[in-house]
Amino acid sequence: MKPKFGIIEKKISVIKKNNLLRNLQDSRVEKQYIFQNGQKLLNFSSNDYLGIKPSKIRHTQFQSSSRLVSGNDSSFSILEKKLSKHKSQEKTIIFPTGYMANIGTISSIVDKESTIFSDELNHASIVEACKLSSAKIKIFKHNNMEDLERKIRSTNGKKVIITEGIFSMDGDWSQLDQISELAEKHGIITILDDAHGDFVLGRDGRGTSNFFNVEKKIDLYVSSLSKGLGSFGGYASGKKSLIDLCINTSRTFIYTSALPASINQYSLDRLELDRESYRKKLWDKINLFHKRLEEIELPTNSTSQIIPIVIGKEKTAVEFSKFLKKNGIFAQAIRYPTVKKGEARIRISITGWLSENEIEYSVQILEKAKRKFNLK
Ligand SMILES: Cc1ncc(COP(=O)(O)O)c(C=O)c1O
Repeated sequence: MKPKFGIIEKKISVIKKNNLLRNLQDSRVEKQYIFQNGQKLLNFSSNDYLGIKPSKIRHTQFQSSSRLVSGNDSSFSILEKKLSKHKSQEKTIIFPTGYMANIGTISSIVDKESTIFSDELNHASIVEACKLSSAKIKIFKHNNMEDLERKIRSTNGKKVIITEGIFSMDGDWSQLDQISELAEKHGIITILDDAHGDFVLGRDGRGTSNFFNVEKKIDLYVSSLSKGLGSFGGYASGKKSLIDLCINTSRTFIYTSALPASINQYSLDRLELDRESYRKKLWDKINLFHKRLEEIELPTNSTSQIIPIVIGKEKTAVEFSKFLKKNGIFAQAIRYPTVKKGEARIRISITGWLSENEIEYSVQILEKAKRKFNLK
């Protein structure tokens, strides 16, 4: 008899052979630290960008139902109204996660007559959402407006452009001013996933579109409350008709349990406090880190809190990350399929939790690592 799991084991051994095996490690996050195997490490792999102190959550009974059945606690509408204001949009819906927000909204908006134009570096949840939708997909070269326009011109029918604000693995910004100009010229719906720009860029942290002054030109925003804001959940904001369509047709909204009301309250607390002072301090730290990287001649194309140190080989990236860990720095190696093969990297994220001294220390360790691994 053939062993049942032979094919599974073969798949795992291929992953291992290519230096792509991931393992779960028990850990605990507290402020700027992560505790792993008895080691206290500085956490440079957190998306809790603003670094707002946690407030005590008072858990209420969970609704134990989807929102359209009996799960629609009033905290949803309060939070949704505040998020609509935050995004200068008519209406918002909260999803359990940002991933589910992408899957749900994109499938609702497009149909088999549509073509989606998606940046080649868009996040896995967008890629998955496009695949699950019935639309045709055209991938344009990263941030390349000529390629995007060429593809738009050679396509008939309904069209939708999807991009990120700050790209999650490269830390650069999309050309939102040019994308929205193109979209306007050709009458195309524009979706912006601003999971990493939200609460970090623009006035009062209104996001990448506010920074580029094109807030009104984006038709649908998708974002996460689990990153800059340091809470949990996903949301989508846009015109009332678009959001009403999602409420009625998004399967990741309709057929899943509602977020616990206490999580909404946690998000509300954070939305209401003076986030601008946190944001300014965060940017001082981001700018300091970029300046110090330039001084030690470690080049990066990043313009944000996400700073990849591109290593190349998967095995070397893992060793580089281990070296950092030995020296008290936690910064994960990011490998295929999260990034392209041969473009493995250390993804550093700067959060408001880190002190200037800790940032300086991390730069000194990076300088040592650069020499040890002979990075150019
Ligand atoms: C660009 C982007 N969109 C969406 C998501 C998913 O958000 P969430 O963690 O809330 O599911 C992520 C998470 O990494 C992301 O980077």
